[in-house]
Amino acid sequence: MQAIKDELDRRAIQIMRDNDRGGYTIPTHGLYPYQWNWDSAFAALGFAAFDPARAWRELEILYSGQWLDGMVPHILFHRPDPGYFPGPDVWQCRGPLPSSGITQPPVSLSFARRLYEANPAMGAVPVRMLFDPMRRWVQWFMAWRQHEGAICIAHPWESGRDNAADWDKAMAAIDPADVGHYVRRDLDHVHAAMRPTKDDYDRYIWLVQRGRRLGWHAPSLAVDQPFFVADPTMTFTLMRGVRDLIWLGEQQGLPTASLWNDLQMLEQGAETLWNPEIRAYDSRNALDGEFSGTLSNASFLAWYGGIDRPELAGTLAEVLAPLPYGVPSLALQDPRFDPKRYWRGPVWGVLNMLVGMGLEDFGHPQGQMLRQTTGRLIASHGFAEYFDPRDGAPAGGGSFTWTAAVWLAWAGVSIELA
Ligand code: DGY
Repeated sequence: MQAIKDELDRRAIQIMRDNDRGGYTIPTHGLYPYQWNWDSAFAALGFAAFDPARAWRELEILYSGQWLDGMVPHILFHRPDPGYFPGPDVWQCRGPLPSSGITQPPVSLSFARRLYEANPAMGAVPVRMLFDPMRRWVQWFMAWRQHEGAICIAHPWESGRDNAADWDKAMAAIDPADVGHYVRRDLDHVHAAMRPTKDDYDRYIWLVQRGRRLGWHAPSLAVDQPFFVADPTMTFTLMRGVRDLIWLGEQQGLPTASLWNDLQMLEQGAETLWNPEIRAYDSRNALDGEFSGTLSNASFLAWYGGIDRPELAGTLAEVLAPLPYGVPSLALQDPRFDPKRYWRGPVWGVLNMLVGMGLEDFGHPQGQMLRQTTGRLIASHGFAEYFDPRDGAPAGGGSFTWTAAVWLAWAGVSIELA
């Protein structure tokens, strides 16, 4: 038993090292050859298990790409790689490093707290260095991505849940007829049945072209947004991030007053995402106020954000009941469920972890159960990007940094493999 765990630890560490590009980590070779924002934050957690100084370095490099307006981009293109599309030539951004023009869920705010708690002596300097950049990113969210207190995405890639069913109705309103010719590179690496469809991709690229036309200028982008959807992923990860940033500020005697206001607003915003029809948190189109009617894994991030809603535990139990490996990205009961297609059914270690950590914080037994389930999933099916939620079959990219990190930081800790 211990030997199996040691071998899995060793493989996870090896994946992290293989994907390390010297201070920053790529999600996986080939499919994602740059530094992705939330992947990188998970990488920091993984490194914290065996190299805490390297963990802080990951976050420092991530924040070195922060724009003057406070945004921390979703991709930093440190070195050119023709194997990925759309690259820096398509985005044409103006940050300190070549980057994309959109952001991703701010889990790094909370993971910084975890690194600090593990070793406050080592963490004091990086926290003092990163506190203001982190606070400015929060301010950017509140200024440019906030609607009635909930946090919106302006591109499906911002949520990290690219082709989630949540966005279907909002995406249908975009006519990408003038998107022009482009060549996808993701299909060179992963089978098309596991990736977003061409209809989705046309709209992804169309939104990038719009941002580029407007010079990625936040005030201009905010006018006539064609796609603006309040997202539980963003809302709850930011809520948790603000709580953890307040905690860090208090530890280090740094100013937290504005963060308390942000937290209050986010708590009000979360209420606007409660959809009584599905008895869960849901995405909501800010342009017409319509819920998406989608039970996704992000529907259960409320505990992670710091909200305990008893009704939600009942819904989670129903979603978990028919499947053996944790929270699917779309409930099996949903007619749009597609077990291999990325965020439309597969189970993801990272979301299992965020949901599970939140449940554990509130002492709900489902949290420990999710931890064990995720550990067994990785132990028996490897470090894939995501998994078929029915039988655990690995899907998407292989040797994935964030799955290795989930193992090292959470799922492989106190695992019972017997
Ligand atoms: C991709 O290229 O598929 C990424 O998910 C964008 O972030």
